[in-house]
Amino acid sequence: MTTLTPVLSRNWDRADSFTLAAYRDGGGYEALRKALTMQPDAIVDLVKASGLRGRGGAGFPTGMKWGFLPKDNPKPRYLVVNADESEPGTCKDIPLMLANPHVLIEGVAIASYAINSNQAFIYVRGEVLHVIRRLRHAVAEAYEAGLLGKDILGSGFDLDVVVHAGAGAYICGEETALLDSLEGYRGQPRLKPPFPAVAGLYASPTVVNNVESIASVPSIVANGADWFSSMGTEKSAGFGFFSLSGHVEKPGQYEAPLGVTLRELLDMAGGIRNGHRLKFWTPGGSSTPIFTEEHLDIPLDFESVGSAGSMLGTRALQIFDETTSVVRVVRGWIEFYAHESCGKCTPCREGNSWMVQVLRRIEAGKGTQEDVDTLLDICDNLLGRSFCALGDGATSPVTSAIKYFREEFIAGTHTPAWELFPYQRTTRW
Ligand code: NAI
Ligand code: SF4
Repeated sequence: MTTLTPVLSRNWDRADSFTLAAYRDGGGYEALRKALTMQPDAIVDLVKASGLRGRGGAGFPTGMKWGFLPKDNPKPRYLVVNADESEPGTCKDIPLMLANPHVLIEGVAIASYAINSNQAFIYVRGEVLHVIRRLRHAVAEAYEAGLLGKDILGSGFDLDVVVHAGAGAYICGEETALLDSLEGYRGQPRLKPPFPAVAGLYASPTVVNNVESIASVPSIVANGADWFSSMGTEKSAGFGFFSLSGHVEKPGQYEAPLGVTLRELLDMAGGIRNGHRLKFWTPGGSSTPIFTEEHLDIPLDFESVGSAGSMLGTRALQIFDETTSVVRVVRGWIEFYAHESCGKCTPCREGNSWMVQVLRRIEAGKGTQEDVDTLLDICDNLLGRSFCALGDGATSPVTSAIKYFREEFIAGTHTPAWELFPYQRTTRW
């Protein structure tokens, strides 16, 4: 039976968990002190050996990404933390930054030292003003204590950290759009390659990492690669947040080893809300194909979830019980993608708007039989033909929902949604 492994969330019960004093009480910044005595390349090797994979969704090996920075490029190097968390259902980085901003700042300092960068940015979603304030306060505390700035802890290493507020666009979570936005341009994805590691911020070598990835680094430096890789599975090492939301008794952040199952997590979360049963769920946010009851025992690691036809993504587990209209939920998600599409490429810009129109018709009971095929046809023209992952991701909930609940989409073409799903009576049409 898998149990929780609170590392990042260890001190969240303390009312003052966000302060430098509380973080240091638990040994905070000792990993930085240790890292500054090591050779930078040795830290990169340590993170490689730990098996840490990107916690922003794609699961790219973190140490390998650091190792991609070209050795012969004389330009300055940058570390950019992607804190633009915006995926529907994804809600792990924001609580982490609120409850324990110093674990991120310590990770930023270690990672910057490892990649020989003297300038780091934390790019935060603009709407979360409370998080921006908390981070800026924590950064100021760290400067005052000599943990950032010139000659950190007497090591001769200098690092400046800027907390930058985005303007609230989901696309700015895509790493190259984020870099455009940080440079002061409208955030739109760039063509890759070149990857940011080669030409990122101001065309300089840049590492872009998710908040949780960077926040995991101090514990790896403190406890070693073997300690980290002893948790999780062989190819998906370590622990991470599993964010349970929706129709569960105790929604929240569950920090557990990768490979835990939803069944185990639901046991910890008190199960589906009283008297109801699971209908469908997302393993990693709205961009990942949905799962059903038959997937309760799939280990939540990159490989197992992929083999079962979805993606681990951001481990945003949105749980829906049998009172939920799948058509309605998918329509809500696609409205989000249509709204957030940056408009750069036609399949995504037009396709998502069309899907919204068709889904609204189906939900209102005014669709035709052909509408389901039209949806699949639009998805066919989006997947693999979009410029970035936003367009591809938008097809996942549609195609998977039709795969598991086709009859509900067809029924929706004849029966008003409120007759099929009396608990969710809609007043929009
Ligand atoms: P990706 O697979 O293209 O890249 C992953 C990372 O690896 C990037 O940093 C990229 O620069 C790097 N990389 C890949 N190949 C490389 C190479 N050959 N050389 C150097 N670096 C290389 O995935 P992408 O598009 O960055 O992210 C997609 C994921 O983002 C999805 O799986 C989704 O789960 C997640 N996502 C997360 C959101 C959130 O709110 N946290 C929102 C939307 C999506
Ligand atoms: Fe913009 Fe969508 Fe194209 Fe991505 S897929 S570049 S978000 S229009």
